[in-house]
Amino acid sequence: MCGIVGYVGPQRAQDVVVDGLRRLEYRGYDSAGVAVVHDGVLAVAKRSGKLANLEKVLADKPLPPATTGIGHTRWATHGPPNDANAHPHTGGARRVALVHNGIIENYAELRDRIEADDHVFLSETDTEIAAHLVELQVQSGVDLQVAMQRVCQQLDGAFTLVAVDAEDPGRVVAARRNSPLVVGLGEGENFLGSDVAAFIEHTREALELGQDQIVTITADEVTVTDFWGSPVEPTRFHVDWDLSAAEKDGHDWFMRKEIFEQPRAVADSLIGRRGVNGLLQLDEMRLADEEIRDLDKIIVIACGTSFYAGMVAKYAIEHWTRTPVEVELASEFRYRDPIVDNTTLVVAISQSGETADTLQAIRHAKSQGAKVLAICNTNGSSIPRESDAVIYTHAGPEIGVASTKGFLTQLVACYLLALYVAQVKGTRYGDEIDEIMGQLEAMPDHIDTVLTRADSIYELARAHVATRSVLFLGRHAGYPVALEGALKLKELAYIHAEGFAAGELKHGPIALIEEGLPVLCVVPPRGRDQLHAKMLGGIQEVRARGARTICLAEEGDHTIEPYADDLIRLPQVPVLLQPLVAIIPLQLFACELATALGHDVDQPRNLAKSVTVE
Ligand code: F6R
Repeated sequence: MCGIVGYVGPQRAQDVVVDGLRRLEYRGYDSAGVAVVHDGVLAVAKRSGKLANLEKVLADKPLPPATTGIGHTRWATHGPPNDANAHPHTGGARRVALVHNGIIENYAELRDRIEADDHVFLSETDTEIAAHLVELQVQSGVDLQVAMQRVCQQLDGAFTLVAVDAEDPGRVVAARRNSPLVVGLGEGENFLGSDVAAFIEHTREALELGQDQIVTITADEVTVTDFWGSPVEPTRFHVDWDLSAAEKDGHDWFMRKEIFEQPRAVADSLIGRRGVNGLLQLDEMRLADEEIRDLDKIIVIACGTSFYAGMVAKYAIEHWTRTPVEVELASEFRYRDPIVDNTTLVVAISQSGETADTLQAIRHAKSQGAKVLAICNTNGSSIPRESDAVIYTHAGPEIGVASTKGFLTQLVACYLLALYVAQVKGTRYGDEIDEIMGQLEAMPDHIDTVLTRADSIYELARAHVATRSVLFLGRHAGYPVALEGALKLKELAYIHAEGFAAGELKHGPIALIEEGLPVLCVVPPRGRDQLHAKMLGGIQEVRARGARTICLAEEGDHTIEPYADDLIRLPQVPVLLQPLVAIIPLQLFACELATALGHDVDQPRNLAKSVTVE
């Protein structure tokens, strides 16, 4: 939430900062702003609404040709999304400009304290106080880095702050606590960004910053300290994707591009997992076999789409390892006094690695003695850094706000984790693990097959532009798919959509069924206990009450034909792996319906990617 950019170097700062903001806009699009330092004076431009509004202002009236600048794209927390609340904010003397991501919890108290000294505030934000406080510090004679340290010591809450001082050109100082910030290392230029997308067109060399650290960049130098001024050695990393991954590549939306990237993303997440000895290997995981053998319980914590991946993980881990698994919304976890100890493995799933609810849940789990394993897509982000172990997914940058390839690669990581635990605990024979790995390795081709049917799914979606409500039904591993399909439709098409476990319908929700209501049904593969038959029963019940059924069923399943008003065929895969193919039509459906309704698919209203506030 909120994108932040900082730059010092030979290029025109306005251009570098605005380009960076364009790549970070998915983090928030309530307003955008930029500040540069030129000839000892600050120049600031900001506008409510999307970045395009700011770009128009800058096209009419460019900022001076400065080479030091900061910028911000906002997801509003304190104060509505208007021009006054847009960042950057300045101190009263307009010597310091500052941008912020997060929430300063004690801002009101700090503001009352200095308002008594005739400080006038121009916005309703929690951020402006930080600009005033930093400015007061530099006015007292300390440099910007020390000023930032002293101010951070007074702040409570979550914040990335990035500031410039008009009287100290050529330097940008930033601080981070509980909000993301990475440094891009250029040749004779350096960058700051909420994530590496901000500077990927300039450099792929980066530094990750830890909790409570302050970084100063000049064109030639980067120095990092803690909030008390002690030097810190940051961790350097290389970004393994390039600018082309952050472009739409001919698609109308990033989301659509990312949907079509899924065969590759799944294949990449599987690369290198089979060792020379034929055993499954998860090199980066850093959990000892004894620790895995001693596990009594696994708790998966996550939010939103990642939570639904966690639900699938439960089915797979329990089935293959016989280890009990709980799945919990990260935002609820620490508030219910969970039973966690050193025989519990907490698995935190997060695409961004920055979700505040998940991060806080991790901290709680660790304080209770649990080991934490992160499943994450973002190198250098907080969640893997604060976890004991990590499995990285290899989706590449996910820019569409609605998660797609992030979800699929999380599923793959969950399957790999389940198989690895089974291997270590000996709950599955090697040849069984080998067989499942083979089935996973066939998935990119199966996903590709579903994608070749996109046009018929689009046609179906466009036929639903007048629909105001859609239900999704699933059972077993198809239930999380139903929930995820409904979430996609809600967040993109703004249509009421609900996912249900098909067996639950008769306990209440069936009252919602009325003539013509579209019901999307994820039909499990045949041949598994009573699952398929029970699902068929549920479909008949809703159809008998007037619902229009759109069924997702495997090739060759003719039993479904009499009960499906529309039928989308899925490749034949095992039930536990079916989410990898079944979610694809639902992603395509939501994307196309939202497009037909004229919505901005990549930037749905009220949302932002990477939810860094609790
Ligand atoms: C929905 C979506 C969100 C995220 C959720 C968790 O399409 O993207 O529900 O899944 O905010 O985000 P991460 O995985 O970054 O922790």
